[in-house]
Amino acid sequence: MKLLFVASEAFPLVKTGGLGDVAYSLPCALQAEGVDVRLLLPAYRDLLRKLASVRILGWLEVQGANRVHSVRILQAEHPDYPFPLWLVDCQALFDRPGNPYLQANGYDWADNAERFTVFARVAAELARDALGLGWTPEVVHAHDWQTGLVPAFLEMLPQRPQRVFTIHNLAYGGHFSQADFTALQLPSHWWSAEGVEFYGGFSMLKAGIVYSDAVTTVSPTYAKEICTPAFGYGLDGLLQSRAYKLHGILNGIDMDVWNPATDPALAGWYFTKQAEPGKSVNKRELLKRFGVSNPGSHLQYPLLGMVSRLVEQKGVDLVINAIPGLLADTEARFVLIGAGHGYFEQRLHELAAEYPERVFVFIGYDEQLAHLLEAGADMFLMPSRFEPCGLNQMYSLRYGTPPIVFHTGGLADTVTDASPQNVQSGKANGFVFHEPSSRDFSRTVRRALDCFAQPAVWDALQATGMQQDFGWSNSAAQYLDIYRSHG
Ligand code: ADP
Ligand code: GLC
Repeated sequence: MKLLFVASEAFPLVKTGGLGDVAYSLPCALQAEGVDVRLLLPAYRDLLRKLASVRILGWLEVQGANRVHSVRILQAEHPDYPFPLWLVDCQALFDRPGNPYLQANGYDWADNAERFTVFARVAAELARDALGLGWTPEVVHAHDWQTGLVPAFLEMLPQRPQRVFTIHNLAYGGHFSQADFTALQLPSHWWSAEGVEFYGGFSMLKAGIVYSDAVTTVSPTYAKEICTPAFGYGLDGLLQSRAYKLHGILNGIDMDVWNPATDPALAGWYFTKQAEPGKSVNKRELLKRFGVSNPGSHLQYPLLGMVSRLVEQKGVDLVINAIPGLLADTEARFVLIGAGHGYFEQRLHELAAEYPERVFVFIGYDEQLAHLLEAGADMFLMPSRFEPCGLNQMYSLRYGTPPIVFHTGGLADTVTDASPQNVQSGKANGFVFHEPSSRDFSRTVRRALDCFAQPAVWDALQATGMQQDFGWSNSAAQYLDIYRSHG
């Protein structure tokens, strides 16, 4: 089976969040199952710089916004990828520094509609082998709004591949104006409520839902949630009407990249059956990295960690509001890594300045530090208000760092609360709260701290999480079923 996998980011070349991890680890898992994969990405400037050599496959003339682009299609090999990467090289659209979606000031690139329309047009051209490479995919799998137009362009091919579209986060809809629609010369028959039109503009995510043969999202619970007004961002009605083709498939994690027994970012390795002394070695190193002069004296105290995009979704405010109270009457220390909204960044800086001995903050993006935190923290905080899947809680479980999560989406599907019954039956692996408030969050942190003080209970919790298999094998098989069932 030939599969064209189309995404706007992929680890380790370009990553802003979990989509990047999945767009790397899922195609790798599928390739291991015998699928012949090509991964198509935009040739962002920073991405190109990470590649040792690229080969030109050909040129395509592609309609943009009131102009036509001459686009080069490149092929590259990368040591982390067992299949070729295909890149859409259009200098006017992708040869620029920094974040793939945002300018340095945090606003979207003004031409995002054009950038991802051109990207999608190229994907559709390659799917019909417009370059005559002798490689025609049976399945095209596209991800999130940036690739939402791919299934729509494929609709127009007389002989089209199966189109699978995955929603990683419905909160980002790829909404653009009617003026953009016109400038991009998109087919006028798409402009209807049954097509891509959305509240007077158009939505690329909607296009992906409407025009694909199967829609998937990244956990079974989120698949149900997005069919309700509370989580649907105005698309819940559409999703309900497409329930026949909607599937919730839990993301897997890359068990090699995230393995505490081999992770090069760690100061000490450890194994499923024996987290200590490895975890303490990492805790000491983590504290040292944050400038703590005598990390040994902190080792006995619980260290609560968080790695997150600093946005409303992630419940950062719940953590910020809860920290002063928790510092007042517990021994907890906090270590927080993140970047995002200026307000949250500033509040975290302020907390670190106010409590220099107990709150440690890094504002920025640091993949290695994130790995070290997963290993060195005692607990992981993930109070997301909604979470399509979430990968960090699974990384935490694998690293013996029980997560504290709100009951939603993929968090609900992966974390089992340490209630007395669940502890007794050996099912508990973390802590779950049910009301998205600082109060309920704080209460649950205190419950976790009580558990931490009982070594036998804590060891059992850690062991349960570390022994679980969050790898891709089960979920990759489900994707294969979908590729085949729609074939
Ligand atoms: P989301 O995709 O919504 O951000 P996930 O939990 O699925 O949430 O994935 C987040 C990914 O991004 C994880 O691999 C996490 O380690 C990483 N990440 C997020 N923020 C940072 C950061 N500031 N530094 C390093 N890694 C980060
Ligand atoms: C999105 C979601 C996150 C999910 C990730 C990968 O960024 O916010 O929950 O884990 O995509 O699917």
